[in-house]
Amino acid sequence: MARIAVVAGDGIGPEVVAQARKVLDAVLPGIEATEYDLGAARWHRTGEALPDSVLDELAGHDAILLGAVGDPTVPPGVLERGLLLKLRFAFDQYVNLRPSRLWPGVGGPLAAVKPGEVDLVVVREGTEGLYAGAGGALHRDTPAEVATEESLNTRHGVERVIRDAFARARRRERRKVTLVHKTNVLTHAGSLWSRAFAAVAAEHPDVTTEYQHIDAAAMFLVTNPSRYDVVVTDNLFGDILTDIAAAVTGGIGLAASGCINPEGRYPSMFEPVHGSAPDIAGKGVADPVAAVLSAALLLDQLGHADAAARVTAAVGAELAARTPGAPLRTEEVGDRLAGYAVS
Ligand code: NAD
Ligand code: IPM
Ligand code: MN
Repeated sequence: MARIAVVAGDGIGPEVVAQARKVLDAVLPGIEATEYDLGAARWHRTGEALPDSVLDELAGHDAILLGAVGDPTVPPGVLERGLLLKLRFAFDQYVNLRPSRLWPGVGGPLAAVKPGEVDLVVVREGTEGLYAGAGGALHRDTPAEVATEESLNTRHGVERVIRDAFARARRRERRKVTLVHKTNVLTHAGSLWSRAFAAVAAEHPDVTTEYQHIDAAAMFLVTNPSRYDVVVTDNLFGDILTDIAAAVTGGIGLAASGCINPEGRYPSMFEPVHGSAPDIAGKGVADPVAAVLSAALLLDQLGHADAAARVTAAVGAELAARTPGAPLRTEEVGDRLAGYAVS
């Protein structure tokens, strides 16, 4: 039976992860889950975001289910870099998979787009780009202060995530991959991405390809989201684009993600796209659907396709029965989803 590690984290993380666990227990009784106390509280207590001993323990699991990290009482970056990105990088989770679909029952903000007409997946590069941490700062707090943030792009890193995008496209009906970058300005990295994309495309004559600059893609994602099937892009562009995709498909409370190490050398990690939402934390009103759909991605990755399909169908039933805009209670949604998943 699968052994998963659970990192609930901060803010609404524990609230939504509790519902995801409820649903996991319902569809896969006997799944072994170990909770790890990581996040703001631990950092305040010990000064550590993710000790190496815990990282080693996490490495021994089949997958990680994560809620959200980040808290207003902790300086920005300490937990985001020291915990979340440390996990993504240490476990070489280079495919950051972020699907978006407009579900029946969900009132998207775009009247002209009907449910079923948006079903896209962003394959976001997960271990490089501007997230690599290269750069530096000089003359802090003086008028001469300078800060640089460098984007790291390796042929190896870029090509493998592009390959993953093409492989996913081949398993989908439309078989289309859109490369999103900013090759007109970021000429060094842009050239590498374009050439790697062209090389992989040449090996996949059955896949349709297109290229868009990030600014145009952000616009088309709002005005014509149906045009996308698989989108492959770098780390930061993918971060921004997937919040837009979430907004267009009913909100950030529905958006799931997987930080995947496709070779299975390390555990993959599954987490909602959203953060710890300090503005609603503790109120019991966070939508747990994003966490529950992330658990469905986890089940799929671990080879439990049937259980994953039951969870996805449960979300479909829940959303179809919702009145858009009506208030929800996190626990009640979790109870209903667990019920639908086993009925
Ligand atoms: P956020 O996603 O936490 O919140 C943005 C807005 O969306 C807020 O108004 C929030 O209430 C709402 N929202 C988010 N999830 C929701 C849900 N499930 N149901 C209903 N509404 C929801 O983003 P932010 O405010 O920019 O960041 C807050 C903290 O979270 C920061 O510390 C940030 O670094 C961190 N963060 C962590 C992750 C992660 O752990 N994967 C992702 C994004 C942000
Ligand atoms: C996300 C988050 C993270 C990211 C942050 C918290 C490091 O915004 O998962 O989308 O930028 O990847
Ligand atoms: Mn983000």
